[in-house]
Amino acid sequence: MAHSETPTILLRVDPIAPDMAAIQQAAAILLRGGLVAFPTETVYGLGANALDAAAVQRIFVAKGRPASDPLIVHIAALDQLDRVAANVPALAHTLAQAFWPGPLTLVLKRRAVIPASVSAGRDTVAVRIPDHAVPLALARAAGVPIAAPSANLFTRPSPTTAAHVLEDLDRRIDLLLDGGPTPIGLESTVLDLTSARPELLRPGGVPIEALRQYIPDLSFTPRYIEHDSVAPASPGMLLKHYSPRAELLLFAGTPERARTRMRQVALAAIQRGERVGVMLPNEEISAFDDLALMIIPLGPRDDMSQIGRRIFASMRELDRQGIERILVRGVERTGIGLAIWDRLVRAAEGRVIDADD
Ligand code: TXA
Ligand code: MG
Repeated sequence: MAHSETPTILLRVDPIAPDMAAIQQAAAILLRGGLVAFPTETVYGLGANALDAAAVQRIFVAKGRPASDPLIVHIAALDQLDRVAANVPALAHTLAQAFWPGPLTLVLKRRAVIPASVSAGRDTVAVRIPDHAVPLALARAAGVPIAAPSANLFTRPSPTTAAHVLEDLDRRIDLLLDGGPTPIGLESTVLDLTSARPELLRPGGVPIEALRQYIPDLSFTPRYIEHDSVAPASPGMLLKHYSPRAELLLFAGTPERARTRMRQVALAAIQRGERVGVMLPNEEISAFDDLALMIIPLGPRDDMSQIGRRIFASMRELDRQGIERILVRGVERTGIGLAIWDRLVRAAEGRVIDADD
């Protein structure tokens, strides 16, 4: 199917009970080798038939994504797992029972029906069952597993609304199912079960604390890399990822001190004539509302789910406003906070200022 010339079809669907005519239309496009974007409980995904190498190739082209970064395969039910993965360990079944459908992606041995390009040439495959009626209905209607990365241009913040998807991919994809804003707003947790010990590759919607009930010694050691040259060794760990166009600075340390430091940096930037934006918990915005800058309230300080849900959308909003410098205070790295911190560090491309130093 053509992509650059054809306008993207936009269909609204109920996220709880999607209209089957829309789902059938989307499934037909997938089976013809086309690209369909859809909501999941995490972020919007850009889907292709995971069994069709040519369709999968279109995903990389549409996103401008390097072929070295593998894709997640979405299935509708547990009985499809053995179709895509081989030698599935008992731990995978235990975790699937506990967390599927849901924001946990398991890296397993790949079966040959899944083209190597889905997994960037690796002998593994990343799989999950999403907790959202739209991709579940779509995978069932199409009768094939769906390969889907987040539906953003490479390095842009992940899309949490249909408008974000259009911002990046209009005319590059065949169809967009608009099911409203995504409930979690951060991508799935990626766990590799093919290494000697289970390895957390990306913190996400399922907190590490929940996984530790099954894998007590699980830890997260970020291995961010500066550029693409060594990407085959650590897929998805590119530091420049999820970036707004503006330069983002992340402030760590005691909240009070971090806020003071942010104020100093904001003042200096405003004096240099820069357009500055800050992202803060609701309770803290009063410390900045006398300054000539744009404030994005992220939600109540104690509501980490809401903060997580709004983090990518806030970056995009500041970009739209032409903000050149974004200042963000880091969050506590527990629960969903670990995933929020990870996305902020990457958006900051490693520019972290520790106010306690
Ligand atoms: O929540 C999500 O996971 C969303 C929705 C659409 O499901 N998808 C998503 O896909 O975030 P993407 O492509 O943006 O991120 C997939 C991550 C990347 O970090 C990639 O490197 C990793 O999963 N991954 C995929 N296959 C892998 C594999 N075979 N081995 C190691 N890592 C893999
Ligand atoms: Mg992504």
